[in-house]
Amino acid sequence: KMNRKFEILLKNAGEGNYAIPSFNIYNLEGATAVIKAAEELKSPVILQILPTALETGGAPLVQMCLEIVKRSKVPATVHLDHCSDPDIIFTAMAWGINSIMVDGSGMSCEENLQFTREMTLKIKAAGGSVEAELGKMTGEEDGQTLSSQEELMTDPDKAADFVDQTGISALAVCIGNIHGKYKNPPVLDFKRLKEIRKRVSVPLVLHGTSGLPEEMIQMAMDAGISKFNVNTELRSIYLKTMASCFSSDPGVELVTIMKKSITAMKEAAKDKIRLFRSIDKA
Ligand code: G3H
Ligand code: 13P
Ligand code: ZN
Ligand code: NA
Repeated sequence: KMNRKFEILLKNAGEGNYAIPSFNIYNLEGATAVIKAAEELKSPVILQILPTALETGGAPLVQMCLEIVKRSKVPATVHLDHCSDPDIIFTAMAWGINSIMVDGSGMSCEENLQFTREMTLKIKAAGGSVEAELGKMTGEEDGQTLSSQEELMTDPDKAADFVDQTGISALAVCIGNIHGKYKNPPVLDFKRLKEIRKRVSVPLVLHGTSGLPEEMIQMAMDAGISKFNVNTELRSIYLKTMASCFSSDPGVELVTIMKKSITAMKEAAKDKIRLFRSIDKA
């Protein structure tokens, strides 16, 4: 059964000069916070699940996210984030996930292309959509200078070929963005981003959005980013909220922690939605 929601959400964002917020989800509190934020601001949204969360929560986690999306008043979908394991990809699809980030960024350029092409063929045949990454971004690059990172960045000359040969629906770019915290002030290569945008027809995705200042997010959207991935910021707000609940009352009720963390994550998600200009786009 074909489900092109992922593609439609990103395409509309590109045409409307805004971006789709895509938040990493681990459990009920996170999913509830994110969908409430999207509903309150009338924003489309993506709930994305990392393989580690998928392994931990299994089919029930996926079913919960799908159910929350189904009940929501906004356009939303569930996405598998950063996966290089074919077994996990097809398990997730069997459980109802229709869009997959096929992550071959840990491989050589040529292996990434082969792997992504092969996976995309199978995923599309099963009715799904694919996001893939060209280049390499990890937290380990943090602290390095821009020049030493450059060879790991997306090559605009290779990007169009990669998209054409793999048949992917969205391309994640590496332009100096980093997962988790930026230990040094972030430096994004906007010139490179604009070159990629010129050469590539599919929507572009930016990972590692946590820690990017407002101006950079605006510039990234203006240069053609249609989806922002946010993980660390919401997750750390969740953890901090729990910690402060315990320190102010060691006998705190679990439901109190749940409510407080949902509210805190919801407000953080709303701030991101406003930044991504997806407010009132539902
Ligand atoms: O995209 C998510 C990465 O796998 C990990 O994100 O840096 O917030 O742990 P993180
Ligand atoms: P951050 O943790 O930096 O927000 O990155 C999220 C991400 O890219 C998820 O795929
Ligand atoms: Zn990522
Ligand atoms: Na980040």
